[in-house]
Amino acid sequence: MIVVTGGAGFIGSNFIHEWLIHSTEPILNLDKLSYAGNLDNLAAIIDHPQYHFIQADICCRNTLRSIFQQHQPRAVIHFAAESHVDRSIHGAEDFIHTNIIGTFSLLEEVRTYYQHLDTTSKHQFRFMHVSTDEVYGTLSPTDDPVTEAHTYQPNSPYAASKAASDHLVRAWHRTYGLPVITTHSSNNYGAYQFPEKLIPLMIMNALSDQDLPIYGDGQQTRDWIYVLDHCVALRALLEQGVVGEVYNIGGHHECTNIAVVQQICFILDQIKPRHDGRSYTEQIRFVTDRAGHDRRYAINTDKISKHIGFQPSTDFMTGLRQTILWYIEHPDWLARINTGAYRDWIAKQYHSSGSIDE
Ligand code: NAD
Ligand code: TYD
Repeated sequence: MIVVTGGAGFIGSNFIHEWLIHSTEPILNLDKLSYAGNLDNLAAIIDHPQYHFIQADICCRNTLRSIFQQHQPRAVIHFAAESHVDRSIHGAEDFIHTNIIGTFSLLEEVRTYYQHLDTTSKHQFRFMHVSTDEVYGTLSPTDDPVTEAHTYQPNSPYAASKAASDHLVRAWHRTYGLPVITTHSSNNYGAYQFPEKLIPLMIMNALSDQDLPIYGDGQQTRDWIYVLDHCVALRALLEQGVVGEVYNIGGHHECTNIAVVQQICFILDQIKPRHDGRSYTEQIRFVTDRAGHDRRYAINTDKISKHIGFQPSTDFMTGLRQTILWYIEHPDWLARINTGAYRDWIAKQYHSSGSIDE
């Protein structure tokens, strides 16, 4: 059995779907179900005999202890986090709590569990920490993409909290011998992503006749990876990654935000034209920039390519088209999200802070 934390979120739920297709090993999802945790993401496999779910907070050590004792996992993959940069700017407390204290609590309980394993199980055990390229900070247009040896220069409260968690994971390996692997992925996109992040927000707003808000000049660049490619890389690293090592995982697709949004509009114009016949690009609005907005992320992925032969297999336009189709074909998923946390967030962001330019 393997345990995943945060498996009701975007990447975690994709990972569970991908896992159940390729493995017969049971998978236990441990998730608190924050605003970003959505059991709808797992509805298709809820009755799968190898899938198990426990609603639990990674900060609750007693619960973690009893889960590990009872289920005896051979690996823990740690996705659970507060993950949205804009939210971290509005209030960082949840990020400090879950991303730092939560990771600490998890590490401590995993360490206790690991210490009591027999030699064979110890040899097999892995703790995989799913982190982000944002811990490396921002790059200039002429900088080389960052390798795993790059210094940490996190700029947002989110990135700082993830950086702190990375350091804890490293220390638990160096000090206590916990067999860890840490990954730094670039921006993911795909099905089941909460529509507060760029790509699903733009798709949802476009389809509901709302503005497409571009922060600043829209020339910030991100590297985009299709979420299922990321999941394939994680599954491969679980079996073939070297303990104590850190791996960048990227999509080989660096792109400006404005270009991403224009491509979404272009695809929508083809597959779901607006009623008035005009282009969705007419909904684009440039708005006040995000505070401390990182200009450019780009990662060098030679290491994972050399160590385990991983290459992303989904080109951006194909993945983006599939993603857009998924959102169009799942109006119920969007409607249910739209009634709760999403509305609260939009109300808070756009009406209290006034970050949208009139
Ligand atoms: P998400 O916000 O969609 O999901 C996070 C999940 O964690 C939710 O299901 C939530 O309920 C759960 N969770 C939050 N706090 C918890 C707690 N205290 N205890 C238990 N569960 C809790 O996030 P995501 O986009 O799926 O990201 C998953 C991981 O990947 C995060 O660690 C994130 O930092 C990392 N990451 C994300 C991206 C990206 O583009 N989304 C890129 C690189 C790395
Ligand atoms: P986001 O999806 O929030 O991911 P991250 O901040 O972790 O990279 O944002 C991706 C990029 O898109 C980022 O540069 C901010 C920008 N962005 C907008 O321009 N408008 C938006 O409404 C959002 C949500 C993001």
